[in-house]
Amino acid sequence: MARAPKNDLPMMSTDEGIVLFHPHMPKKAKQYVCDTLDGRWIGQGPKVDLFEARFRAQFQQPGPCVSTGSGTDALHLAYLLAGIKPGDEVLVPLFTCTATNIPLLYIGAKPRFVDVDPRTLNLSIEDLKRKISDRTRAIVCVHYGGLPCDMAEIRALADQYRIPVIEDAAHALGATYDGKPLGAISEFTMYSFQAIKQLTTGDGGLVTFLDESLAPLARRLRWFGIDRTDKQKGIWDNDITEVGYKYQMTDIGAAIGLAGLEEFDQTLAYRRALYRRYVENLKKVSGIAIVNDFDPRKEHAAWLFTILVESRLECQLKLRSRRIESAQTHFRNDRYTVFGCNETFPAMDSIDDKYLVLPLHTRMSLEQVDSICEVLQEGW
Ligand SMILES: Cc1ncc(COP(=O)(O)O)c(C=O)c1O
Repeated sequence: MARAPKNDLPMMSTDEGIVLFHPHMPKKAKQYVCDTLDGRWIGQGPKVDLFEARFRAQFQQPGPCVSTGSGTDALHLAYLLAGIKPGDEVLVPLFTCTATNIPLLYIGAKPRFVDVDPRTLNLSIEDLKRKISDRTRAIVCVHYGGLPCDMAEIRALADQYRIPVIEDAAHALGATYDGKPLGAISEFTMYSFQAIKQLTTGDGGLVTFLDESLAPLARRLRWFGIDRTDKQKGIWDNDITEVGYKYQMTDIGAAIGLAGLEEFDQTLAYRRALYRRYVENLKKVSGIAIVNDFDPRKEHAAWLFTILVESRLECQLKLRSRRIESAQTHFRNDRYTVFGCNETFPAMDSIDDKYLVLPLHTRMSLEQVDSICEVLQEGW
């Protein structure tokens, strides 16, 4: 089992300097939440339905959109809807938030890690090709930081083996691939609306799928296996025939989400402007590689700006001495005992002590990006 090099730095507070993350609270959020608190529904109610309908229209999602209490819930539902069963082998990214892979353990499936592409930190197509076999039941991919994976290549492999693809788009709301929105490419796509995502509901998530007929099952699994619509019509004698969960979004969360949807285009444009500014400032700085393959098929959702550097801890200490926060944020999943992984991952090894996430959020200015880049340009 691999252990990442230790370089933990304590978190900074907002008044200490430029923090790594900050929630984006949309202007109308307080008003919409207060309206909700004055009404009958604070749990799952009409605002959840409205949020799902608006989300589907705004992000041109071809399939049903089922919101949840978290992105992790949404992934668990996606895995269940994809028919993943105990013992099934699923090819998953090595480098991601543990939330991508833990729900497979809920099911008793066997996640098998695919090495990273060091240019993008997405999964490596070469390693995917090496590991895919007749045993593989599904492919899971993560659009790291908001940069879409190589979807044409992943799709071709999935079609060849006749298995579904589940996209973990927790970082990538607003990204496109070959002109298509995420959610329109694979059988299943999941989003996260956790506190610091481009769109937040406090905590929340959503799963969308191309097969419309799965919608009733998805909605039942989200709520104990009960048909909630029937129940609200006053039909209380419904049976439960499958194990369901309590995974619904609340109207309080949806109220924040609805406010976020209204200003999402501006939020995304601003995040992209910050991202582009980093790229312009750093693209020619020696000793810094930007994590992005700049593939014209991919439109980045600018959740994270990540670089590869030598002597990362020194770089972080230099940034911190100028009151700038930075971190690894995500870690290779083979470091976690729970996955019981003994394979080796040469590409991940090659960047494990190099990747570094820099601040990117709507409380930052373009000038602050410049000042961060100036510190990096000085060297460390
Ligand atoms: C790649 C990835 N997948 C899944 C999740 C889980 O989402 P949530 O925190 O909404 O449960 C996260 C967390 O933010 C994530 O970064």
